[in-house]
Amino acid sequence: MYKFVLMLIAVGLASIVSADTIESEIVDRIKKVGEVCVEGDDCSAASATVAVTEGAGGGEATYRKSCATCHDIGLAGAPKLADIPAWEPRIAKGIDALYEAAINGLPPGMPAKGMCFTCSDDDLKVAVDYMLDSIK
Ligand code: HEC
Repeated sequence: MYKFVLMLIAVGLASIVSADTIESEIVDRIKKVGEVCVEGDDCSAASATVAVTEGAGGGEATYRKSCATCHDIGLAGAPKLADIPAWEPRIAKGIDALYEAAINGLPPGMPAKGMCFTCSDDDLKVAVDYMLDSIK
């Protein structure tokens, strides 16, 4: 009986130890990307700011928000979404020229950044990609 009790204690201890190890292994694993910061801790140094750019949501979101005003209806001669003949001569210039026009504008009608001043160059490129997808 005495031996049995000892054994139970030993098994109990072993499982506590291994549960601890497992937990710290899990914490280690999920720590890899950034520090884990539990509510109540002083996390100021560890907390990461997740940058939400205009591009969040993809090219369509940027297009809807910033480009659609002109490009849905062809305002001031803007090539319309899904209008193949309007886009063909532009595509012939090459994709880089189109990205360039989106970023720096194309006088007189196309304003720099399509007036989306919080858009990064990549956001604008993804918006152009979305416009070009519409004519595929
Ligand atoms: C104020 C109206 C307006 C807005 C807003 C606008 N565009 Fe334009 N866009 C134009 C006009 C007008 C043209 C045609 C310019 C020309 O050929 O003279 C044009 C042309 C373009 C072209 C073709 C450029 C080329 O080299 O042929 C691209 C690409 C383009 N716009 C992307 C965008 C994107 C992306 C946005 C939104 C982020 C946007 N535009 C917002 C008016 C606008």
